[in-house]
Amino acid sequence: MSKKILVTGASGHLGRATIDALLARGVAAGDIIATTRDLSKLADLAAKGIEVRAADFNDAASLPAAFKGADRLAIISTDAIDAVGTRLKQQTAAVEAAKAAGVRHIVYTSMPNPKVGSHITFAGDHRGTEEAVKASGLGYTIVRNAWYQENLFMNLPQVLASGQWYTSTGEGKFNNLARADCAAALAAVLASDSNESKTYTLTGPQKMTTAEVAALASDVLGKKIEVIQLNDEQLSGGMKAAGVPDFLIPFLIGFEANTRVGDADIQTDDVEILTGNTPTGFRAFFEANKAALLG
Ligand SMILES: NC(=O)c1ccc[n+]([C@@H]2O[C@H](COP(=O)([O-])OP(=O)(O)OC[C@H]3O[C@@H](n4cnc5c(N)ncnc54)[C@H](OP(=O)(O)O)[C@@H]3O)[C@@H](O)[C@H]2O)c1
Repeated sequence: MSKKILVTGASGHLGRATIDALLARGVAAGDIIATTRDLSKLADLAAKGIEVRAADFNDAASLPAAFKGADRLAIISTDAIDAVGTRLKQQTAAVEAAKAAGVRHIVYTSMPNPKVGSHITFAGDHRGTEEAVKASGLGYTIVRNAWYQENLFMNLPQVLASGQWYTSTGEGKFNNLARADCAAALAAVLASDSNESKTYTLTGPQKMTTAEVAALASDVLGKKIEVIQLNDEQLSGGMKAAGVPDFLIPFLIGFEANTRVGDADIQTDDVEILTGNTPTGFRAFFEANKAALLG
């Protein structure tokens, strides 16, 4: 008998890409359930024969019915960064509902190194959700995703335009992965029949310092980039002066500090183990996105 795979947050970038990756693997549309807060965004999936349901993690009471009939359920972490603890509350509700609905295996999208003392402001929400998943007694796969390469769209166009990259990452390395590689790995986990409980950490194929990434971007994109290392206080002052909203500054500085102390310095083969393919590196990302990055 075929199993039903449910993906939450199906209108988001990763949810949608995961469903595309499931279809690309040959999973039948009729074996996929897609949930979202806004059904109107999933009309195209419904037209393909995917069952589309409403699910909002803020409405805990409605979730067991939304998850009913699913064998394997991907909880795509939410984007609530308004306050520490919001995501944890939402995602714990999803874990509890999965158990109540009779789900056999939970897949949760976490972050690398969500340890106590992490510089990442939302690490505790991921750590707490991982603990809730483990405490559920269900089979689970925790997929700790390195930062997406696509995050570079947030700062690199401006760096390329100005020729200056202000950072406090020092000699710390990072190893972003393409969202599509992340989705392909999630789809592999969801399509599997294994109920073994495991934790994977998905990274790109090569970890680099900011100076190395800048040199590579210069080489591929033909623009000179000067990397200017500051301390966190100087960088946050610069962000404030540039008009970055106050609430975002500690969040952004946390990413810099996380890299500087080595918590993003990770290289695994987990994407290849799960998908059979080498993940896309920074060079390929720059080559594929020249126009968008150069603006
Ligand atoms: N590794 C990284 O670099 C990185 C970067 C950004 C984000 N993330 C995390 O990875 C997740 C997926 O990334 P993405 O690029 O797909 O983000 P995205 O496009 O911004 O999508 C946000 C996701 O959050 C879901 N969501 C928000 N509030 C929800 C709620 N109350 N109940 C249920 N779902 C809710 C959305 O689902 P619907 O709108 O369909 O309901 C959607 O799937 C993000 O939400 C965030 O936790 C990781």
